[in-house]
Amino acid sequence: MTEAVAFPQDRTCPYHPPAAYDPLREARPLSRVTLYDGRSVWIVTGHAAARRLLADQRLSTDSTREAFPLPSERFATVRSRRRAALLGVDDPEHNVQRRMLIPSFSLKRTADLRPRIQRTVDGLLDAMAEQGPPAELVSAFALPVPSIVICDLLGVPYADHDFFEAQSRRLLRGPTAEDTEDARDRLEGYLGDLVERKRDKPGDGVLDDLIEQQLAQGRIDKQELIELATILLVAGHETTANMISLGTYTLLRHPEQLAELKADPSLMATAVEELLRFLSIADGMLRVATEDIDVEGTTIRADDGVIFSTSVINRDTAAYAEPDTLDWHRSARHHLAFGFGIHQCLGQNLARAEMEIALRTLFERLPGLRLAAPAEEIPFKPGDTIQGMLELPVTW
Ligand code: HEM
Repeated sequence: MTEAVAFPQDRTCPYHPPAAYDPLREARPLSRVTLYDGRSVWIVTGHAAARRLLADQRLSTDSTREAFPLPSERFATVRSRRRAALLGVDDPEHNVQRRMLIPSFSLKRTADLRPRIQRTVDGLLDAMAEQGPPAELVSAFALPVPSIVICDLLGVPYADHDFFEAQSRRLLRGPTAEDTEDARDRLEGYLGDLVERKRDKPGDGVLDDLIEQQLAQGRIDKQELIELATILLVAGHETTANMISLGTYTLLRHPEQLAELKADPSLMATAVEELLRFLSIADGMLRVATEDIDVEGTTIRADDGVIFSTSVINRDTAAYAEPDTLDWHRSARHHLAFGFGIHQCLGQNLARAEMEIALRTLFERLPGLRLAAPAEEIPFKPGDTIQGMLELPVTW
């Protein structure tokens, strides 16, 4: 058993798990890590054990539980707050919320959005090409693609994107707990006003459907609707933006694999799965045990904190041969980059479509795309948030 590894830690290379996690990789499927406050918790690192445990209802995502593990000090205030909708709610309540949203994020609804996603991507690349090189790819492309698409889907005015993108950034990686809390208040205030405006003048987004079918029928109250809107808006743009920026950086750092992809764009769908596995940007799913659970000859006790390290799980040699190699020809589909079980990512179909269209079109339109700064000097995000590039200077 490894006792001393601190979690989370910053990556040294933006697309590999931190070298400091190596002892965890050797101690699969379960070991111990120490959190920022000195608390020792379980960390799940084996692929098979992770799938079993993520499907186990004795692990809760309710962050208001006293024993819920917190990855850094700035999340400490979530304890004094209502739980986040969906992700912070256990069944059966979770199931009620999730069922309201499933039709809006189905494969069919996502497939219908593809032409709109393609138009968005084309428009942003037209603007980049018109302006000419160099460009900063996060602000010019990786962030606006999912941001425009989620606004369209939800019925949020994209004209307000500077505001909600800034609040989402503070919510996910603000410097202090107060800052994180303030960002949440502002976002909820903004979405509350939007709900009122929509009551007077309905549109055709997912939020309008929720107002008509759930709020007006008394199935949810306004606060619950605002919390659902908050998670959809934040999760809907930040995560995919990181996959597009880090995915591009990773491809530019793997010229052989990139050349293969350019020669055969039909590989893109499997390449997206492999990138999801390889990059594992949501590294550290949090749970607390509500009862004792026997696993692999060990007992997780009630109130123990349990963390799932997707970056380590998705490189389990029992699940993937040569897991540290980026390989378009493996079947990476059963990776856990979108989680597993009842909280498995609601937006995964949408995220896949956005990544596929964005990456394919980017390299088709700008085949000479390359980094405009030394690779080692380009800044990326710290370990206690969703992984991705802080900026990505490119030229072509
Ligand atoms: C590549 C991009 C994305 C990644 C890597 C990702 C990753 C994840 C992961 C790992 C979880 C499970 C967390 C846990 O169990 O603790 C999750 C849940 C969730 N994701 Fe995503 N996500 C992405 C894109 C999106 C998009 C585009 C949306 C759109 C709305 C979205 C909405 C959600 C929601 C609502 C949940 C909570 C589901 C529930 O609790 O039932 N995600 N995501």
